[in-house]
Amino acid sequence: MHQRSTHPEAWNISEPEFPKYGSMYDKLKFFLRYAILAPSIHNSQPWAFRIQNNNTIELYGDRKRALPVVDPIGRELTISCGTALGYLQITISHFGYKYKTELLSAYDMEKSDKQPLAKISIYDESGSNNIDVNSLQKEDNDRLFGAIPKRRTSRFRFEDRIIPDILQAGFYYIVDKYPQYQHQQKNQEQEPIWLHITEASKEKDALAELVVHGNHLLLSDKHFVNELIRWARPNNSCTSKKNSVSHYALGITNFISRINPYSVKSFQITKKQDEKVHELAATSPVLAILGSYLDRPLDWINIGIALSNILLLASSENVCCSFLNQPIQVPQLRLKLLDTIRKEKGFPQILLRMGYSRQDIRPTPRRDVEEILIT
Ligand SMILES: Cc1cc2nc3c(=O)[nH]c(=O)nc-3n(C[C@H](O)[C@H](O)[C@H](O)COP(=O)(O)O)c2cc1C
Repeated sequence: MHQRSTHPEAWNISEPEFPKYGSMYDKLKFFLRYAILAPSIHNSQPWAFRIQNNNTIELYGDRKRALPVVDPIGRELTISCGTALGYLQITISHFGYKYKTELLSAYDMEKSDKQPLAKISIYDESGSNNIDVNSLQKEDNDRLFGAIPKRRTSRFRFEDRIIPDILQAGFYYIVDKYPQYQHQQKNQEQEPIWLHITEASKEKDALAELVVHGNHLLLSDKHFVNELIRWARPNNSCTSKKNSVSHYALGITNFISRINPYSVKSFQITKKQDEKVHELAATSPVLAILGSYLDRPLDWINIGIALSNILLLASSENVCCSFLNQPIQVPQLRLKLLDTIRKEKGFPQILLRMGYSRQDIRPTPRRDVEEILIT
């Protein structure tokens, strides 16, 4: 089938469309078309951008898209903004420009509409003095860029196939060595973010238990369920809703998808469903926890940048990922999670499962660049 007709519009983007002879404003706007393909919690796309002076892009968190039940302090909202920032950095480098990123350390969530989370200044080759260049080699950067159009969240069961050590080393490299995150935190004793990868059955089982427990606690909260329903979109929906998780991405069949979600009064979790969630987690070849030593907006945005790079590196090697954040979203389980991976301190931020999948996954919708541009 022809790709153009089946993909939501935002995904129909290709490199030759880059306005090489256009204005700098048009170029920066083009870069944003890639940034908005980033993943976000519930596909809420909680970002907004302002182009300033034709060489700076400001990134804002959009509190109107917050998820007050599952994410009351905007942690995952900010991580989502970080993924868009990571995509933007990779895109800028890919098209031969350099950039300097300024992350705002004294960020106040309450003033998020006035205060950008990050500013990224873009320079061509001639203006390269004092610029923090993306430390990825061009070839590596291009590999991540090439994965942007094909990355998807894959919630299906993975094949029983290990993820090569060399690729796992790549994930650690992104977190440990990629100095993009470090430059504003030179005086800090520890690296600001960390990664824990596990393939061991015992630990994966223990983590799977926590996911099941978290799932129970969240789904027994009717406010959580209502929020989830609000952000889901039936298959073949003809609404223009571009900011939601499609049922097809959740593996929900068209038949079930047609049932009006508001007619579902409560969620009865059966033992079978528990087993399925447990199995999804425990049989994944790899579970990975991305965390930080502190728990501030600056750490969250750094996590988002690292997350975007990890997801793209995985995708470039045909490794799929999905999120099992339930034990992080429930405060008491977040501590238990830290215990389970035998870490003394720190804050787990994202729990990923990774593996190979034969399922073809359609891309989920995105808002147009015009809708996320602040003028
Ligand atoms: C910070 C963050 C948290 C997320 N949490 C979950 C989650 O708990 N469960 C889930 O199934 N997907 C989760 N996702 C994945 C999003 O639902 C997904 O990115 C979005 O629907 C867009 O789809 P795509 O990734 O296929 O482009 C999360 C994504 C991000 C960036």
